[in-house]
Amino acid sequence: MRRTLVAVHIVSAVGLIGADLALLALGVRGAAGAPPAEVYPAMSLIAGSLMLPLGLVALSTGLVLVRVTGVRLSTGWVAAKLAITTALAVALVLLIVPGLAAAAEAATGAGAAQPERSLAYAIAPAASATLLTSNVLLATFKPRRLSGILRSRRRSEPRLPSLEDAQQRGAAR
Ligand code: HEM
Repeated sequence: MRRTLVAVHIVSAVGLIGADLALLALGVRGAAGAPPAEVYPAMSLIAGSLMLPLGLVALSTGLVLVRVTGVRLSTGWVAAKLAITTALAVALVLLIVPGLAAAAEAATGAGAAQPERSLAYAIAPAASATLLTSNVLLATFKPRRLSGILRSRRRSEPRLPSLEDAQQRGAAR
């Protein structure tokens, strides 16, 4: 159960970083003067259909992992990850997804003209990629004391018999 959760958590978190980097590549093209119709509809699709669901999965599996592993929400690295991920999710829902949807509609002639924000749409994914990378670093280099607690929990989990166990049993007979 716990390993499955960690796997889903990592896949969604890494997918989120990948989607964010795609957004950054498109945002840089937009800021460099590419035609808006080539950039903003794709950015809008990536933000709304990939980043938003992946972010929600990373956030919810992270919270379930907090329960399953017994780590406290107040522990430094957990609280920092929660704050970063929640802030990014709020920015996505309130600013990025609606802003890019309006920019996409304006670019394809389906909506009203929008204020020029091409630089902001390049800077925002660069900032979120930095924050998401910090989340990976926080998860990987967590404080030693906490890693010790998690390791001792892992050791106490039931383990499937290995080939060595079977060989030792054979030798004992
Ligand atoms: C999108 C943001 C996030 C990223 C990129 C991320 C990344 C990761 C990675 C790479 C791991 C695996 C680390 C390892 O096995 O050593 C992990 C595990 C974990 N994450 Fe996240 N995470 C994110 C959000 C969250 C949130 C919001 C929480 C909870 C508040 C959270 C809590 C945890 C916990 C409890 C583990 C398990 C630690 C363990 O078993 O050693 N994560 N995360």
